[in-house]
Amino acid sequence: MYSLDAKNTLRLKAKDLKNIFHDQLDALYGKEEVSSFFYLSIEHHLKIARIQLLLEPEFTLTKNETDVFFSILEDLKQQKPIQYILGETEFYGLTFKVNENVLIPRPETEELVDWILKSYEYRVMSSEPSNLKSSIVNRQLKILDIGTGSGCIAITLAKHLPEAKVFAVDISESALKIAQENAEANNVNIQFIKSDALNLEDEDFCPIAKDISQIQEGLFDIIVSNPPYVRKLEKQEMKLNVLDNEPHLALFVENENPLVFYNAISDFAVNNLRESGALYFEINQYLGNEMKDLLTHKGFENVELRKDLSGNDRMVKGIKK
Ligand SMILES: C[S@@+](CC[C@H](N)C(=O)[O-])C[C@H]1O[C@@H](n2cnc3c(N)ncnc32)[C@H](O)[C@@H]1O
Repeated sequence: MYSLDAKNTLRLKAKDLKNIFHDQLDALYGKEEVSSFFYLSIEHHLKIARIQLLLEPEFTLTKNETDVFFSILEDLKQQKPIQYILGETEFYGLTFKVNENVLIPRPETEELVDWILKSYEYRVMSSEPSNLKSSIVNRQLKILDIGTGSGCIAITLAKHLPEAKVFAVDISESALKIAQENAEANNVNIQFIKSDALNLEDEDFCPIAKDISQIQEGLFDIIVSNPPYVRKLEKQEMKLNVLDNEPHLALFVENENPLVFYNAISDFAVNNLRESGALYFEINQYLGNEMKDLLTHKGFENVELRKDLSGNDRMVKGIKK
């Protein structure tokens, strides 16, 4: 099962290490998930694809590599998310650095980004040969992501809409640091701003208000946000590995005012979206109708609620009149 090298240190074959992972983790996570953790770790640390490992069953790790895998095993036993253990994750085909200061990007957020990208492409394609096409293509789109965290939304939009000028806001300096690193690693230019989403228009409090006033009125074509939306009363539904590891600043709102961010951001959007500009939100699955009402009440048109792939109300869009 194992061999000793010249210095009498332990070296394990990858297949034996995999068995140790299964022995110690299957009861906690299930066999399939443990396999996935193991191969993700192999790919990340050894740059070896799963298929390559299957073709080389005798592949043996060095002592240092073996140590790294035992440390991963310990972290997994403590239910630390694999994305934090490896320090990165994938979102919409791009790689993002993550740590305990940022929420781990979720698949439902990829769906929100996909909605935005598809709507934009649709507008460009379907408008031909009207003036709309040339006006959109020739104008630099301005996009604002509020509560950017790892930067996954802003960076993915910037990557796929290279002509756009993208701004991103978060109140957490440590999150903004990771987001900036992710923008550089993904080769996009984003203006990151430390601001409070609940006071976006207060110039003394919030630098974005000054930035906005320097650019022309009706600044943004798209405002998007995945703000904190989990009510504290929903804590008991959440997995322990989320509760114990992910930043509560990114997750929770008070039970009595669960739409606090949506209210503030919608008000900001009313004043700072161009005519026909779009506001997109990821939302709490239990508050879909409340969100539709909120946007309609604020005067948005074509308010549309969408479900995620699991069938939960998860995103909403409104168009500024
Ligand atoms: C649900 S996370 C979303 C992160 C990322 N956009 C994503 O989709 O994975 C919410 C983000 O809002 C930020 N946030 C919390 N309170 C805020 C506030 N008052 N002003 C601005 N950002 C805030 C958190 O730091 C966190 O990064």
